[in-house]
Amino acid sequence: MHPKLFPISCIFIAIATLIHLPASLAQGNEFYQNCSQLFQCGNIQGIGYPFWGANRPQACGHPSFSLNCTGEAPVLTIETQPYRVLAIDDTTYALKVVREEYWDNSCPQFLYNATLDETPFNYTSDTDDLVLSYGCTTSLTGTTIPGQFSCLANGTSGTFGIYSSNSATATLANIPTGVTCTTSVIVTVNSTEGQALASSVENVTQVLNSGVGLLWQANNSYCERCVASRGRCGSDSSNAGSFICYCPDRDYAFACGSSSGSGGSGTCPFDQISSVFLLCSFVRLCFFRKVKESCRGSSLDLHVGF
Ligand SMILES: *[C@@H]1O[C@H](CO)[C@@H](O)[C@H](O)[C@H]1NC(C)=O
Ligand SMILES: *[C@@H]1O[C@H](CO)[C@@H](O)[C@H](O)[C@H]1NC(C)=O
Ligand SMILES: *[C@@H]1O[C@H](CO)[C@@H](O)[C@H](O)[C@H]1NC(C)=O
Ligand SMILES: *[C@@H]1O[C@H](CO)[C@@H](O)[C@H](O)[C@H]1NC(C)=O
Ligand SMILES: *[C@@H]1O[C@H](CO)[C@@H](O)[C@H](O)[C@H]1NC(C)=O
Ligand SMILES: *[C@@H]1O[C@H](CO)[C@@H](O)[C@H](O)[C@H]1NC(C)=O
Ligand SMILES: *[C@@H]1O[C@H](CO)[C@@H](O)[C@H](O)[C@H]1NC(C)=O
Ligand SMILES: *[C@@H]1O[C@H](CO)[C@@H](O)[C@H](O)[C@H]1NC(C)=O
Repeated sequence: MHPKLFPISCIFIAIATLIHLPASLAQGNEFYQNCSQLFQCGNIQGIGYPFWGANRPQACGHPSFSLNCTGEAPVLTIETQPYRVLAIDDTTYALKVVREEYWDNSCPQFLYNATLDETPFNYTSDTDDLVLSYGCTTSLTGTTIPGQFSCLANGTSGTFGIYSSNSATATLANIPTGVTCTTSVIVTVNSTEGQALASSVENVTQVLNSGVGLLWQANNSYCERCVASRGRCGSDSSNAGSFICYCPDRDYAFACGSSSGSGGSGTCPFDQISSVFLLCSFVRLCFFRKVKESCRGSSLDLHVGF
């Protein structure tokens, strides 16, 4: 290398290091980046932890909060059963859902009771049990059966469904004498809507479509702490799905910058320290070279000064 070229190449390397530095900082923690993306589906916009699905990898949510955007609404799977999501309020940890097979339909093909036992979900307090009985036949003629709705169970002609609501009084025994049904299902609905049904203000489809409130528990307070520290919440698949806080530099157990890091997929902080060190060394080197050069004229000994 020609002596005169050295300071120029030195400055060039310094600039290159400067450019490289913010790039390596921005690259940071890939999970932090990916989990910054929010879930969008129809009317449900900007949803983050504990939900995952579509553009949000499972590590960005809690395992029990899988969303699938099917057309106009997200579908949440709870204990293998699909629920259509009508609203999500992540400030109160509340959801409004309808069992997918009961969306716009009081007569589904497969009948089962859905349970929230052993799930991170429970119903809000303003709920009512709607009892839907199917495969009903009657020996009564010329009488209007209360709560009757049309449902040809598996195409069986002459059958229908009946409902009764209000958890206080509705029992499966509410089926009128002279009517026999093969199967009953309990669907939890909003109690205000249940009352509207009882007073015939609304029909059974409208009540089912209005949805029911759920509350969720997914380490909510841990996530609040993580978000307050500018982190992104998620779950650690390598550690039985336990809570994790993704931060720009690396992963932490609860909050960014807290000493109890989990040492996950983040970049090593020494990468950035060594870049800064390298940059400073070059600048210093260039400066002294320049001074020496101006003192001694053009006679520069390349083997001195390292
Ligand atoms: C982050 O998202 C990118 C692009 O969608 C993907 O290639 C990458 O595997 C994701 N990384 C993680 C850790 O999920
Ligand atoms: C989402 O729903 C579609 C259509 O119902 C289904 O084919 C697909 O397997 C689902 N995806 C996931 C990840 O559950
Ligand atoms: C639903 O629960 C009710 C009350 O426990 C029960 O009588 C009914 O048989 C159940 N229905 C089904 C389809 O399991
Ligand atoms: C649902 O769970 C939360 C948290 O465990 C609890 O505070 C709330 O009272 C429960 N709600 C109902 C209706 O059981
Ligand atoms: C229709 O048949 C299926 C399969 O035999 C059964 O699981 C379901 O409960 C039946 N539906 C009604 C409405 O009776
Ligand atoms: C329920 O009411 C809605 C709106 O008034 C109507 O479109 C629908 O046909 C009714 N359904 C039944 C099963 O009566
Ligand atoms: C129940 O329905 C009433 C009336 O529509 C509504 O004000 C209330 O917010 C609903 N509750 C839940 C938990 O969605
Ligand atoms: C909350 O996080 C802890 C620690 O990460 C974990 O052990 C626990 O299972 C989580 N609880 C829920 C309800 O996910």
